[in-house]
Amino acid sequence: MVNLYSIDALKENLEPLRNKGLKIGFVPTMGALHDGHIALVKAAKEECDVVIVSIFVNPTQFNNTEDLKLYPRQEDKDLELLTQNDCDFVYLPTAEEIYPPDYEEVKIDLDTIENTMEGEHRPGHFNGVVNVVSRLFKIVQPTKAYFGRKDFQQVAVVKEMNRQLKLPVEIVTVETKRDPSGLAMSSRNLRLSEQDLDKAVVISQVLNKGKSWANSYSPAVTRQKMIEYFEQTSLKLEYLQIVHPDTLNDLNQYWVSGATACIAAYCGDVRLIDNMELITKEEN
Ligand code: PAF
Repeated sequence: MVNLYSIDALKENLEPLRNKGLKIGFVPTMGALHDGHIALVKAAKEECDVVIVSIFVNPTQFNNTEDLKLYPRQEDKDLELLTQNDCDFVYLPTAEEIYPPDYEEVKIDLDTIENTMEGEHRPGHFNGVVNVVSRLFKIVQPTKAYFGRKDFQQVAVVKEMNRQLKLPVEIVTVETKRDPSGLAMSSRNLRLSEQDLDKAVVISQVLNKGKSWANSYSPAVTRQKMIEYFEQTSLKLEYLQIVHPDTLNDLNQYWVSGATACIAAYCGDVRLIDNMELITKEEN
């Protein structure tokens, strides 16, 4: 694996490959890598000729400075894991290179996709994601980019950004990886104690409950039952919504194909998110 620390080094290494017509698969990350990230690397390996992972803890997507400070960082371990998984390149930029003094902020209208769930509870978060992802796409110029479904709303935002900015990148979504307990893998899990890890399992449990209640009840009643179930636990619920998979509008009376329940909750002071498709999506 080649470690790239600058745009110049990246260009020097990737341009000859791009000129040969090779497909470049890109996995943007903020490090603290786990099996969920490795699933993205493996998907990229299967579909592309060359795989590049970026590790950059993007300050502009944190609306809370404490959260940014506490975000886990473990570069040596990350590099070892990527090497073991046959990653070809890793890009480790500095903040100055991503946001140079003449950087022009990208502004797009995400409308309802942004004004709910993560967007509502983390003001400015998706503006930060749009800016860093579009900047990384411009630098890396990948053929395909890989994102985990755990960040369900992020995937919708990145697809909309890609559409509006007409970027020549194919966005691929990869299923959420879970611990044997059902807990969705996340870099933030590193901040949970053994006891918290046990408690956090209730997040996937309530999503599974929702999936079975969806067979008998409307979205509004299913949501209410899920909230009541969750309120019996020691985690603090921030939101639990059942949404349309494309518009992210709340569903109340009727189910649609791909209807998804999304949840954010605090386990101690660690904020966790997860989601589950309650109605299987019919592919057309
Ligand atoms: O999902 C993440 O880790 C980040 O939001 C991303 C896509 C790497 C942008 O900083």
